[in-house]
Amino acid sequence: MSDRPPLHPDTLAIHGRSDDEGRPRDIAPALYPATTWRFESSAELERHLRGEEVRLEYARYGSPTVREAELRLAALEGAEDAILLGSGMAALSTALLSLLGQGRHVVFTDDGYRPSRVLVEKVLSRFGVTWDVLPVDAPHRLMEVARPGETRVVFTEFPTNPHLRLPDLGAWREAMRPLKGARLLVDSTLATPWNARPLERGAHLVMHSVTKYLAGHNDLTAGVLAGASPLVEAIREVRGLIGATADPHAAWLLLRGLKTFPTRMARHNASARWIAERLLAHRTVERVHCPGLPGQPLPEGMSGVGGLVSFVVRGGRLAASRVIDECRLIQHAASLGGPETLIQQPAVFSWSDLDDEALRARGLEPGLLRLSVGLEHPEDLWADLDRALNASAG
Ligand SMILES: Cc1ncc(COP(=O)(O)O)c(C=O)c1O
Repeated sequence: MSDRPPLHPDTLAIHGRSDDEGRPRDIAPALYPATTWRFESSAELERHLRGEEVRLEYARYGSPTVREAELRLAALEGAEDAILLGSGMAALSTALLSLLGQGRHVVFTDDGYRPSRVLVEKVLSRFGVTWDVLPVDAPHRLMEVARPGETRVVFTEFPTNPHLRLPDLGAWREAMRPLKGARLLVDSTLATPWNARPLERGAHLVMHSVTKYLAGHNDLTAGVLAGASPLVEAIREVRGLIGATADPHAAWLLLRGLKTFPTRMARHNASARWIAERLLAHRTVERVHCPGLPGQPLPEGMSGVGGLVSFVVRGGRLAASRVIDECRLIQHAASLGGPETLIQQPAVFSWSDLDDEALRARGLEPGLLRLSVGLEHPEDLWADLDRALNASAG
C-alpha cells in the first residue's frame, strides 16, 4: 500500500491510481496490439487456467493497453474496477445481458438516450425481458411498477439526455430496498466522473459512452462499466463471451485523451454555462435547460454537467431547423463531448418517426435544440449562435 495522500482527479487522469512499483517506465502509454500470448509450458497454462498465476491469454478477454485504460477509468470513477467495451451501447448491452434474463424486469426512467430503451424493447424483449418506464423524478413510484423477485435493474441517466435532469440517485437506491438483488445502473456519460461519481451517490454500476468526453476527440468509439469488483468481474466474463471488448488502438487513444480530460471538462462546464446565460436572455429563445442556471439547482458537490445545453426556440420545429442551417462555425452532427461544438434537433435526429403531438406527449418540444459546447473560444461560438438565432427569426 502506498503511503502517499490520495490524488486529485486532475492527477489521476494523467498518472492513474497506482504508484510506480512494477509499472512500465514509458511516460506516454504503450500500445500493445497483440491478440494472443505465448505460454512457456503446459504447466504454466494449467496454473493460468486454475487461476493460480493469471497470464495474458487472448485479447478478447483483455489486453495490456485495454487494462491500463480500465485502471485509469476506475481511478477516475472511484470504483474498485472497470471494464472497457467497444462502445457505450456495448457497455449497456453487456451489463443488461449479465443482469437480466428470461422473466426478468427492468425499470427505465424517461428522458433518456433513445437507443438504450430500444435495445430492451426490440432485442431483450425477444428473450423474455419486460420493462416499465417511470419519470426520472419519481423514485417514490418505483413500487407501483416493480416486481419483487423479477425486477433486477433500475436504469437511469445522470443527467438525462436531452433535458439534463439530475435524478436523486440516493432516493432511487432507497426506493429499491424491497427489490432483492436489483441493481441501480446509471449512465453518467453527460456528467462524466469529473462532475459526479454516481457510485458515491447510490449507483451499483456506472456506465459511460467513452466515445464522448472521456475520449474527447470524436475519433474513437468505446464504453465503460465501473463498480465493485465482484459485479464487474461477473460482467467481464459476459463481455468475453459476447466479444464486446474494446480494441487496443481505441484504448491507447483514450489513454492519450484522458491526460487532458479534467482540463477539457473545466472548459466545457464554463463555456456551456456562459452560453446558457446568453441564451436565457435571447429574444428568440423560450426556455433553456442547463443545471446551474437560476431555478435549476445543481446537486451538492457538483459545479456543472459538462458541455450540453438544451434550449427551445420560439417558432417550433421549423424555426429550430432554420437556426441549425444558419450556423456556420457550429456544426450539425450527432454526438457530444468533443472539441468541436455540435448542434442537433432531437425531434429530427432521434425522433423523426413522431409528429409534433406525439413528441409533446413524450415531453419533447419539436423546437428543442441540443448544443454540445466544445472547446472553441465561447465568444466565437456565441457570435455564430446569436447570428443564427436572429437570422432564423427574420
Ligand atoms: C447518454 C448516452 N448514453 C449512451 C450512448 C451510446 O454510446 P455509444 O455511441 O458510444 O455506443 C450515447 C451516445 O450518444 C449517449 O448520449
